[in-house]
Amino acid sequence: MMGRYAAITGWGMALPERVITNAELARNIDTSDEWIRTRTGIAERRVVGPGEYTSTLATAAGLRALQCAEITPSKVDLVILATCTPDRPFPATACTVQSNLGISYAGAFDLNAACSGFVYALSVATSMIQSGAHHTVLLVAADIFTHLINWQDRNTCVLFGDGAGAVVLQASDKPLGLISSKIGAWGNGEDLMAAEAGGTRLPATPELLRQGRQYVAMNGREIFKHAVRWMSDSSQQVIAAANLTIDDIQLIVPHQANMRIIEATAKRLELPLERVFVNLERYGNTSAASVPIALCEAVEQGRLHEGDHVLLTAFGGGLTWASSVVRWGQ
Ligand code: UT7
Repeated sequence: MMGRYAAITGWGMALPERVITNAELARNIDTSDEWIRTRTGIAERRVVGPGEYTSTLATAAGLRALQCAEITPSKVDLVILATCTPDRPFPATACTVQSNLGISYAGAFDLNAACSGFVYALSVATSMIQSGAHHTVLLVAADIFTHLINWQDRNTCVLFGDGAGAVVLQASDKPLGLISSKIGAWGNGEDLMAAEAGGTRLPATPELLRQGRQYVAMNGREIFKHAVRWMSDSSQQVIAAANLTIDDIQLIVPHQANMRIIEATAKRLELPLERVFVNLERYGNTSAASVPIALCEAVEQGRLHEGDHVLLTAFGGGLTWASSVVRWGQ
């Protein structure tokens, strides 16, 4: 059956056990709990330990989403993993997740749009279902962003944490799931946030590794400005494309990078903070996983009801951004 819509029928998340508080970071670098809380809104983050990597978190989140949707793995015909921190440079980590979950022969690929990855992939997955090529998609977003972090760089290390979130999308004739979306990028801004060494342009050498050039360097202030503009502009575009107004949006689940970015975006959208979901205090910025983790918690906390319109919006390295309006319901 070819569905005109792709409903979100299951969701799940997975986080590492280990918690790192602001106070713990302040013991090792020149920062403070007060600076991190007031400038970002973050109090603690989860960080992987031995034996935990992108595919283990992705598999755990994916399994929960399948259980929530009450479907067997064999029903899934496509696995998409949004990540910018794969297990290995090659092959795609989506194949590992597919194998771990026993989803034999389904298509599997990774999608890298940094922190915007989940919202990008939601657009891709929905299109694949609407085209009739696929019927049931497992979409996982997982990042071990702390792998790319220099723990001595206070500009970046206080911001990020690790985690995974997943959804199951199924073809439906009911008008549910993503009803409008916008993905965008500004490649001129690629150097505003980048890990220089370790790819084909600058392969890692012992000397480069000693210099820490494999870690992400970031111009936070510039990214802040772009993030607010693009998240709010693209949000307005998808709301208009869905023939809705801001009053029709019951909840916005934004990328959890910085409370001040979230507040500034909500202000530009003239959306009261009561309708904004925030959990970054406990997890920091989990990159592509941040939106699906927040979506899961929003559902668990009873913040979403059948027929609600939820706005998802994200930005990240690339620079990339993406927004979508989802009509909630199964
Ligand atoms: O998913 C995309 C990921 N990237 C982002 O989300 C980045 C977006 N940008 C931001 O969230 C903010 O720009 C930051 C949180 C990164 C920085 O906040 P800011 O208000 O833009 O601070 P700033 O960069 O203007 O720095 C203010 C001061 C500087 O000191 P001086 O030059 O005024 O003396 C920094 O050196 O704060 C200093 N600083 C810190 N102090 C204590 C920077 N990081 C820290 C720190 N602890 N961790």
